[in-house]
Amino acid sequence: MNIESLLEQMTLQEKIGQLVQILPSVYDPQTSDTVTGPVAQLMEESGLTEENRFELGSVIGINQAEQALRIQQNYLKHNRLGIPLLFMADIVHGHRTIYPVPLALASMWDISEMELMARQSAIEAAASGLHVTFSPMVDLVRDARWGRVMESTGEDVWLNGEYAKAFVRGYQTDDLTRSDSLAACVKHFAAYGAAEGGRDYNTVDMSDRELREFYLPAYLKAIEAGARLIMTSFNVVDGVPATASTYLLRQILRNEWQFDGVTISDWSSIKELIQHGVAGSLAEAGEKGIKAGVDIDMMSGAYLNHLEQQIEEHVVSIDLVDEAVRRILILKRDLGLFENPYRGIDPELEKRIHLSKEHRDTARRLAEKSCVLLKNDHILPLAESQRIALIGPFATSTDVLGPWAGSGKQEEAITVRDALDEANIEYVFAEGSTVDAEIDWDQAMEVAKQAEVILLALGEASWMSGEAGSRTDIRLPKTQREGLARLATLGKPIVTVLFNGRPLDLRDVVEHSDAVLEAWYPGTEAGRAIHRLLYGHAIPSGKLTISFPYHVGQLPIRYDALPTGRPMTIEGADPRYTSKYLDAPNEALFPFGYGLSYTHFSYSQLTLCEQSKESIWEASVLVTNEGTLDAEEIVQWYVQDPVADVSRPLRQLKGYERVFVKAGSNREVTFRIDASMLMYQHPDGSVKADAGEFILYAGSDSACTLHETFWLKQTVEKEQFDEHINDRSTSTTR
Ligand code: GLC
Repeated sequence: MNIESLLEQMTLQEKIGQLVQILPSVYDPQTSDTVTGPVAQLMEESGLTEENRFELGSVIGINQAEQALRIQQNYLKHNRLGIPLLFMADIVHGHRTIYPVPLALASMWDISEMELMARQSAIEAAASGLHVTFSPMVDLVRDARWGRVMESTGEDVWLNGEYAKAFVRGYQTDDLTRSDSLAACVKHFAAYGAAEGGRDYNTVDMSDRELREFYLPAYLKAIEAGARLIMTSFNVVDGVPATASTYLLRQILRNEWQFDGVTISDWSSIKELIQHGVAGSLAEAGEKGIKAGVDIDMMSGAYLNHLEQQIEEHVVSIDLVDEAVRRILILKRDLGLFENPYRGIDPELEKRIHLSKEHRDTARRLAEKSCVLLKNDHILPLAESQRIALIGPFATSTDVLGPWAGSGKQEEAITVRDALDEANIEYVFAEGSTVDAEIDWDQAMEVAKQAEVILLALGEASWMSGEAGSRTDIRLPKTQREGLARLATLGKPIVTVLFNGRPLDLRDVVEHSDAVLEAWYPGTEAGRAIHRLLYGHAIPSGKLTISFPYHVGQLPIRYDALPTGRPMTIEGADPRYTSKYLDAPNEALFPFGYGLSYTHFSYSQLTLCEQSKESIWEASVLVTNEGTLDAEEIVQWYVQDPVADVSRPLRQLKGYERVFVKAGSNREVTFRIDASMLMYQHPDGSVKADAGEFILYAGSDSACTLHETFWLKQTVEKEQFDEHINDRSTSTTR
């Protein structure tokens, strides 16, 4: 397909149509739309007419092959130039088979499993006719009040970037024309996770340094991995809404990062420029959006209602429209849609592959690896001979898919009770309460008295997190906490399994439970994964990628915090005048990287030696499995730069390795450090590693203390380093 000649044939109205995304019901009255934002008024104001209906560029929320086929066939009968529709949707952690939510998946610390999840999601979604997924969401998050933390991979800039690349590889493969590939749309650009007060859609304000060092890198990593689209965020950055920010969308995205893919607004975020107070009308909002570089207007009506007149009156240059249309047509071409507008749509494959055994097995394995054992006072794993009382709202709840469950159906999820029944585990049962209302804790107490061990399944309803799901109180709902406290008076061991989308304040849960397993929203195979972990058929290996605070008042909290001028750790400091709370510790209750196993790992013999004058070090540590069970450990490597031109984090994750260690034995784990890991942006904008002392930590979480010091002999500039690396890589291939 020759894009330029196609562009030349298009009328202005046809060009503008390509920039508009609408709901599928516009083309298929029998479709029930997947609505992920305000809709009623938007459809009235959409600017849709019988004349332009078959000129629009894309649809949001397709979810079935038959529907996709019907819509595309009908559309192409009416589209003058035969330009096919793009079908987009939120395939965030699965399409019909639902995997654990991203914050859970991140706890696997397993890049290849994350890529596999994206791959299987794409296979299922493409069979249903999808071309684009609004994923990965790579927003860095340090505030558990924000409901969308469950969609993120957590608080670490480097790990978020590693996962971003894995998602993109899994969705896109290296050939976007493959019928089972999806184009990835990385989101939400930019820094959406830093909303003030953890309140969704709220103001984001930070230094350019903070933005560039912590919040931007994961979007760039996704783009470097080939993501073909990027979505603007609802929030302002430096006072300008991201959807109207030429700094973000042109200066950074196009000029600095050379991104040549498609930009798409978030749901009606162009129209919301009016509410932000930077546009006085829908027309002005559209003008700001297209001038900032937003190619596709998702659901606001600004482009469809006003761009034609703005072009004719020379308020907006046709060049801006052409560059946007060009990028969209190139995406459609690269997806193979001009050759085959029905690429991927396969009702037979859809029936075969959705919820296939292979995909369910993967979902179960990933759920097992995503769960994080937070406490275990010698009670887990359980023995099948133990008499169990299964209690709590999540014992039978199918609300285990999370708030972004795509086309997943709760009724297809395996509950904890289902799994115990499948395994012929005998138990007595009482619900005790719903998520937020007591049913009968008295009856639950009576049931619990019949058992040796209480298995308590508690959590948040999925509506309590996710988009627009911010909370100021991050504890479990009151009735659940009261029920737990009452059960604890029985003096029987309590195993609490948690279903939630955010880090919670778990002080009372930990106090009253002998074991606590964080299961997040584990997805379609929830119950089977939890059963296997509780009975030792699988061993917990998950590690947190976000801090769990003692109290909401500590938020935002992060392991990679700066030291401050009055840290509590200074020997002999006046205890009053240090950076602390009078009523809570500074540290998290469960820190970044934390997670227990059914065995115990110890670390020793940390050594570091410089490999050559090239400022490369090889570190080594001995990891010993002190217990009686073979198991996996996630060995983590952190680096601190104690003296620099700006205040640097107390430590930053630079690498990790999942290692299998047999019971009673040990393994040497090595790690290669190079100068790129020591670099940061200096006040003059240069990126380099300063000569001087550095500290390497190795351990099982971000609070680990085993460390060694090493020195960088001379400053290393990023440009100089990259050239050297390129020279060396060409020399090895020469
Ligand atoms: C929502 C979300 C975004 C999603 C989009 C389309 O408002 O912010 O993450 O991809 O709309 O559903």
